[in-house]
Amino acid sequence: MQTGMIGRHFLCEQDWTNEEIETLMEVAKELKMRYLLGEPVDILRNKTVFMLFFEESTRTRNAFECGITQLGGHANYLTPKGTQVGHGETPEDTIQVLSRMGEAVGVRNTLVGGHDWMAELAKYSSIPVYNMQCDIWHPTQTMADLLTIKEKFHDELRGRKFTISWTSAGNYMRPLSMAQSLVTVMPRFGMDVTLAHPKGFELQPEVLEMARANAERYGGSFNIVNDMDEACEGADIIYAKGWGPIMTVGDDEKRGVEMINENPGWCIDSRRMALGSKDAIYMHCMPADRGVEVTDEVASGPQSVIWDEAENRLHTIKALMAMTMGNTHARR
Ligand code: CP
Repeated sequence: MQTGMIGRHFLCEQDWTNEEIETLMEVAKELKMRYLLGEPVDILRNKTVFMLFFEESTRTRNAFECGITQLGGHANYLTPKGTQVGHGETPEDTIQVLSRMGEAVGVRNTLVGGHDWMAELAKYSSIPVYNMQCDIWHPTQTMADLLTIKEKFHDELRGRKFTISWTSAGNYMRPLSMAQSLVTVMPRFGMDVTLAHPKGFELQPEVLEMARANAERYGGSFNIVNDMDEACEGADIIYAKGWGPIMTVGDDEKRGVEMINENPGWCIDSRRMALGSKDAIYMHCMPADRGVEVTDEVASGPQSVIWDEAENRLHTIKALMAMTMGNTHARR
């Protein structure tokens, strides 16, 4: 168990060791138990987390906001338009000011360059900066996913077959970040990861390399297929979530959406769930495009754990804040 993490950023899972991530899991379980028992845990009394959202959110915003309230602190919701960020105030000036008032800042910016923007913020920050999802990673979601898998499989992760499959969600181009975080994190915990997508929907090559290296280092495995049925065969965890063909078309939304719609039928239904292991679970970070990414029968069915995953956003984000927020003002 790792202590001494006050002030640490959380921009990418890879920046934290397995021991640090396991600590977050343990703290989350402890906080979840206290939540279940109705015990107050106001360890962040009078502390403020700023939440700068370039885009909309249901789960991430409310997990941070409810989480800090339950820990005795306060959340301040910010947008570019509602701050001078929208007028081009630099990350350096923005964080120098926020660092003198609050104890942490989270940023969601999934546009191309979003990660660079928050990394620049972190460079000048004396308070922790949290990635609330960018164009490359979604680390607070994978922490909730990991906790959910641990709960459902009694902490026995080694050798579990984890499938992350693309879906035909074609109303807009979703970022690569969810799939990229999953393929790099799950092999670190001994899982055999299969990534499935049609040709043209590849992830970033350096991320695929990281997934392979993690599998080799930690004894998991990583492979890529272009067929959803093949990916579901024998899977213990079927995680199905769309993303845009960004490596093929860049930010050309019109062509990207056309390409998604040229690949219909990548949808999780009961037949595909039955291809998995007898205890297989269905996961999705949500919002799920019902009827396109997944049938109602699966999403609301007994194998679905999507609402547990969503609840675990709260407990894991509380753990993140509890571990990293503190009085960093004295050492600026
Ligand atoms: N899964 C997730 O990040 O949901 P929101 O976009 O609602 O925050």
